[in-house]
Formats: sequence, structure tokens, C-alpha cells
Amino acid sequence: MTGEHYFTAEPTTAANPREVEFSVAGRDYTLASSAGVFSAGRLDPGTAVLLRKAELPTAGATGALLDLGCGFGPITCVLADSAPTATVWAVDVNERARELTAANAARVGAADRVRVATPDDVPAELTFAEIWSNPPIHVGKDELHAILLRWLPRLAPDGVAWLVVARYLGGDSLQRWLVEQGWQVGRHASQKGYRVLRVTR
Ligand SMILES: C[S@@+](CC[C@H](N)C(=O)[O-])C[C@H]1O[C@@H](n2cnc3c(N)ncnc32)[C@H](O)[C@@H]1O
Repeated sequence: MTGEHYFTAEPTTAANPREVEFSVAGRDYTLASSAGVFSAGRLDPGTAVLLRKAELPTAGATGALLDLGCGFGPITCVLADSAPTATVWAVDVNERARELTAANAARVGAADRVRVATPDDVPAELTFAEIWSNPPIHVGKDELHAILLRWLPRLAPDGVAWLVVARYLGGDSLQRWLVEQGWQVGRHASQKGYRVLRVTR
């Protein structure tokens, strides 16, 4: 990845297309990936724990779901599959990540139900029944907090957010900070050093 971060807006690293295979809830996925995006070579272990341990939306779920920091789109594709009557908003600052997520939504037959967007392109009035995120820890604590303060208030009143954070990257302190901000936070699961946090109002 040369010196670029995975959250670079317009990666200049050669794309080097590849595929990432994984299974969630009995379904196999083969998604397009590429250099210049987060965990380009495999499903990130934290994302894997999140998708295994959090409660995927039910088939009858409706409304808007948010994949905050979608990367190449693994969470988006699983959400779109799990909730075929919901709309999934896939948001990322990284242009290549957005392109890959759009391509992968088409691969899983959900292009018409996935909206890929920059943070600023999401309609201001939209609220989310669910927010899912393996958030970008490496942007730094202040920026991470700013991202969460921007999006968590857009949860619907009875909405739920599912976050995964490595314990060694501050999963427990993030949980404490969210509680200080007035959120209800449950440590829903803990596996392989990752915390899955369930956040509600
Ligand atoms: C830890 S990665 C997770 C990617 C993907 N969801 C996955 O599980 O493989 C976090 C993502 O957040 C994106 N990101 C960084 N800053 C962001 C911001 N301010 N708003 C939205 N996404 C951001 C990064 O570009 C990166 O793709």
C-alpha cells in the first residue's frame, strides 16, 4: 500500500484486483477487493467476529441500515442479503472502497437496494434502523469520536448500532466513552480479542 492509509480519499496505489472469500450465516461470498482499501486480502478478523456475533437484521427488516466505513463492502453485502426489503447505505471516504462496494452489491444481486455514498452525500434527514461499523481506529481518537458523534445521533429512536473494536486498540475505553456520551452500551460479545458493542439510546 505504499505510504497510503486505507482511509485515503483517492488511493493512488495500483489497484491490484483480487477476490475475498468468506461465509456468513450459511452463505458463501466472493467479493472483489483491491489494494488501497482496508483488509484487501481477507475478511478482517474483527469484521468476521462482528458478522458472526451481532444480531443480523431479520428478513423482514425495513427502512435504512448504515454500514459506516464500508471498505470493499463485506458488511453491506451481508446486510443486504439478510434484509432484502431494507435499503443499505454504504458510506466511506475512500473512493476505491465505494467503487468496490458498488460492484460487490451488484455481485450479490443487491445493487438496487444499496446506496453507496460519501459521508456528505447521505441525505441529512435520513435516520437509520441499524448502524453497523468496524470503525476506522487508525484515524486517531479525536477523529473516531467525531465520526461516531456525527452518525450515532442518526439512529432511529428504537435503533441499534453494532460496533466491533479490538480490545488492544481501545475497545474498552471506547465503550466507556460512549457511556459518558449518554449511550446505552452492552458488551454483546467478546471473541479473539475483539469487542462487539451493542449501542442504543
Ligand atoms: C476498519 S475499516 C472497515 C472496512 C469494512 N467495513 C470492513 O469491515 O472490511 C474502516 C473504514 O472506514 C473508512 N473511513 C475512514 N474515515 C471515515 C469517515 N470519516 N467516514 C466514513 N468512513 C471512514 C475507511 O476508509 C475504512 O474503509
